[in-house]
Parts: sequence; structure tokens; C-alpha cells
Amino acid sequence: MKNHGTVLITGASAGIGRELAVEFAGRAEKLALVARRVERLEKLRAELLARHPKLSVAVLAADLSNEREIEALLARVAEQVGTVDVLVNNAGLGDSALFDRADWTRTRQILLTNVVAVARLTAALAPGMVKRGRGGVLNIGSGAGLTVLPNAAAYVGSKHFVAGFSEALRADLAGTGVTVTQACPGPVDSEFDEIAGSVGGMAGAPPKFFRIGATQCAREAVEGFERGAAIVFPGRAYRFAMRALPFLPYGMRRRQAANTAAKLRAGRE
Ligand SMILES: NC(=O)c1ccc[n+]([C@@H]2O[C@H](COP(=O)([O-])OP(=O)(O)OC[C@H]3O[C@@H](n4cnc5c(N)ncnc54)[C@H](OP(=O)(O)O)[C@@H]3O)[C@@H](O)[C@H]2O)c1
Repeated sequence: MKNHGTVLITGASAGIGRELAVEFAGRAEKLALVARRVERLEKLRAELLARHPKLSVAVLAADLSNEREIEALLARVAEQVGTVDVLVNNAGLGDSALFDRADWTRTRQILLTNVVAVARLTAALAPGMVKRGRGGVLNIGSGAGLTVLPNAAAYVGSKHFVAGFSEALRADLAGTGVTVTQACPGPVDSEFDEIAGSVGGMAGAPPKFFRIGATQCAREAVEGFERGAAIVFPGRAYRFAMRALPFLPYGMRRRQAANTAAKLRAGRE
């Protein structure tokens, strides 16, 4: 099993991020766990240390939708954690509203957390990786970043950023020894839908049949990262569907999304 050195994981207090911490715990010397709910991170820290007594785990509270807190987090990382070998940009949130009805405060929170924090943390930590000639960035994007879904424009746009950013960053860092992988999950059991207000799944998202657990999602994301894959679609059935997606004309996907949105607007869905 690989030793990834020091791994910083955002959004480690729940769902996929928590499971990513469990996966990396056996493959790292030090973990830095970031989220707002610090009591959950402390509990996870205790669990990980019980299983891996040699591991070092730093708990860092930060609201990634606040740029000042992102800067303060980076300062604490430099002081308390030191060199970061692997950055896992996982923290994220969605929404469930037609864009003209969406709450701006919420939209802003999505853009800051899913876009600005991802870019800022990468900008701060990637140069050191390049200098050392090793390390990596694992971005948790979404299938929503590769197609069009209704009722979640800011989220879909934010994940298109993650998709384009990950591919372009991978190109920029080619040959430096630093790996860039994006995982683009479909529906995964976590707190995501409850927080996004889309219990039962996002409108227009793949059906329940494709749903997987957060543990499987994290395991496949880490395995893909270790293989140096550019993109990972966790879950067998979903992977198959996503590989077939480019063959579905974009015009058809647009019409499907618009039809679902029209039904939502009319209160029929
Ligand atoms: N679940 C799915 O179906 C699905 C599908 C595709 C992609 N994804 C992506 O997977 C990633 C993880 O989502 P999940 O499903 O595991 O959702 P989750 O269970 O709701 O977990 C989200 C994590 O992000 C953290 N987070 C949210 N806002 C934050 C903020 N302002 N500052 C710091 N941390 C913040 C949360 O921590 P605190 O609340 O403690 O801060 C939590 O640890 C997201 O990027 C999501 O877009 C999920």
C-alpha cells in the first residue's frame, strides 16, 4: 500500500469526506481534517487513532465559504501541519431551486465552497508539491459537472468548474510528478441531499439504481487517484452509464432538463 505522507481532506466531518479520511488513514503518516463541525472531526480523529496508532491527525475548523477563514486555515496548515503532499478537495454543497427562485446567500455559499476554496487551496498547496516533484490533488466533482441538470444551476456550474479545472490542472502539472484526479460520483448516500433540500435525489439525476454508499465511493476515488486516473466514476452501473453519456446528444439532455424544470415551475414534480 502506498504512503501518501501528509493528506489534507476538506469536508471530512460527513459523507464521502469522512470515508476518504478512513481510506487515507492506512495510507498516510499525517491527516489534516477540515470542516466546520469540529466535534465530528474530533470523534473521527479518535476513531482513526484507535485503528492507526502511528498516524498523526490534525483537526482544523474552517468555514470554506468565507475567504478570510480560508486564509486563516492556510496559515494554520503552515504552522501546525507543515508540508501537504496530497490535497483532497471534497467539501461541497448543493441546492434545489430554479435559479430565478434561488436564495443568493445560499448560491454564494455554494460558489465560495465548491469553486473559490478549491482554487485557493490548490493555488496555495500545489506549488510546494511541484517543487518537491511529488504529491497530488484529488478533487471530488460530480456527474453534474459533465452534463446539464435542472433546479441546481449554481451547483451544476460549480461542478463544471471542478471538471474543467481538474483537467486543465492535470495538463499544467503533467511531468512534474504531481497527480491530478477528479472523482465524479453519481448519487451517493450522505447528508448531501438533505442539506441541498433534494431528499430522494436531485431532479434529473440518475435513478436510485445507481446509488452507492460513501465507503465505496471513497474507496474507488482513492484507488483511481493511486492509479493516476484523470477521472473516476465510482460504482459499476454508474460508470457504465457515464461512459455512454457522451453518445447521448446534448440537445436531448437539454430538452430533458428543460422539461423537468418546466414541471417543477408548474408545481407538477
Ligand atoms: N452525495 C452525492 O450524491 C454526491 C454526488 C456527487 C458529488 N458529490 C460531492 O461530494 C462531496 C462531498 O459531499 P457528500 O455527499 O459527502 O455531502 P455531505 O455528507 O453533506 O458532506 C459535505 C461535507 O462538506 C463540508 N462542508 C460543507 N460546507 C462547508 C463549508 N462551508 N466549510 C467547510 N466544510 C464544508 C461538510 O462539513 P461541515 O458541515 O461540518 O462544515 C461535510 O463534511 C461534495 O463536493 C459533493 O458535491 C456528492
